[in-house]
Amino acid sequence: MKILLIGKGGREHALAWKLAQSSRVDRLFAAPGSPGIADHATCLPQFHVDLSAADPGLSKQIDDLLEWALAEQIDLTVVGPEDALAAGLVDRFTAAGLLCFGPTAAAARIESDKSFSKDLMERIGVPTAAHRTFTDSATAVEYIREQGAPIVVKASGLAAGKGAIVAHTQDEAEAAVREMIDDDIFGAAGDHVVVEQFMEGEEASLFAICDGEDFVTLVTAQDHKAIGEGDTGPNTGGMGAYAPAPVMTEDLLQRAEDEVIRPVLSELQRLGTPYKGVLYCGLMITEEGPKVVEFNCRFGDPETQVILPLLRSDLVDLCEASAQGTIAQTRIELDESRAAVCVVAASEGYPNAYEKGLAIDGLASVEGEDVVVFHAGTRMIDDRLVTAGGRVLGMTAVADDLPGAVDLAYQTLKAVQFDGMYYRRDIAHRALDRDLG
Ligand code: GLY
Repeated sequence: MKILLIGKGGREHALAWKLAQSSRVDRLFAAPGSPGIADHATCLPQFHVDLSAADPGLSKQIDDLLEWALAEQIDLTVVGPEDALAAGLVDRFTAAGLLCFGPTAAAARIESDKSFSKDLMERIGVPTAAHRTFTDSATAVEYIREQGAPIVVKASGLAAGKGAIVAHTQDEAEAAVREMIDDDIFGAAGDHVVVEQFMEGEEASLFAICDGEDFVTLVTAQDHKAIGEGDTGPNTGGMGAYAPAPVMTEDLLQRAEDEVIRPVLSELQRLGTPYKGVLYCGLMITEEGPKVVEFNCRFGDPETQVILPLLRSDLVDLCEASAQGTIAQTRIELDESRAAVCVVAASEGYPNAYEKGLAIDGLASVEGEDVVVFHAGTRMIDDRLVTAGGRVLGMTAVADDLPGAVDLAYQTLKAVQFDGMYYRRDIAHRALDRDLG
């Protein structure tokens, strides 16, 4: 088979790594790809399908890539980032007769339009925080004053993972609303703002591979969004992750499948926009059970870097079954007896301004079948690997238990350096504390 992967980040490196293990793959291409992905695929840097959904250039890039994919007779396209999904890549490829893994733009609204997603959940009784949507800041501020803090403010559209603010004070919440609606910090993505109740609990990420009607779930994971140890400081794209997440017991998983995934798939089907691809359920495990924090229409980053090493099944089979509507006939095998950890090495200053182009050393000395270094933001300049993003590398380690995986990931990290390299030293602390407690 000829497979095309869309994207360039750490998540897509993990997807490329796993897709390349399939005996069904003859050629793997990645648009645009990265130096890490280049170990598994032929990269196509001429296609900038990694642009943001708000960038008018994305549509033309998708058209150009479609022309290339038709000429190359690509058998299956796997889409990593939400922006390309929200911009309708799957709609266009499918209309041209190409098989594609991912939701259509209408189904991707579950992530790209948080107001739509919250209304949908409320309509069908999926457990989630109570909310209201606003288009003017004065009314939103009035509501925040009535409700008090802590409270959550979210830009309804796509905001590169930065659009959700957990405000611990009323002032913080009011400032967030004004910045989104009046100052347009997220452009049109902040024209509608969702204000929702703060939920107490521990978060978990659950991924369902869906075919419009049926689904299978992968190993559960937990990520660490905050930059600082102890989950403090501003949110990032994710500073590390581990799997499985012990907070997600068998019973809670069953409840999440019955109370969240199944009803959402039925409702999207009823609306005429069946959901295919991966449905990422960001859950808060509260005293009353799992409640939805957010849905995403794609794999998580860096959760993918820990769930794929624990997937025994062929990823190509799963993506194909999702696109063809045959998930019910597909058996999924997970390696639930082992644990995986990913620690992200980031640029100094991230998630604010940071320097790029710094030389990365030591990668050649990383070896072992239980460790993989996924590239999140790197590039080659004159045969030299350098930093090219806020999140630079993700050290993933797999072991027979979580403490073993944590030790191995941190040991691996010691071999690698770049100026200002920053990483959290407490990845998986909640699960490790649970083991001790
Ligand atoms: N790890 C959070 C995300 O992928 O959105």
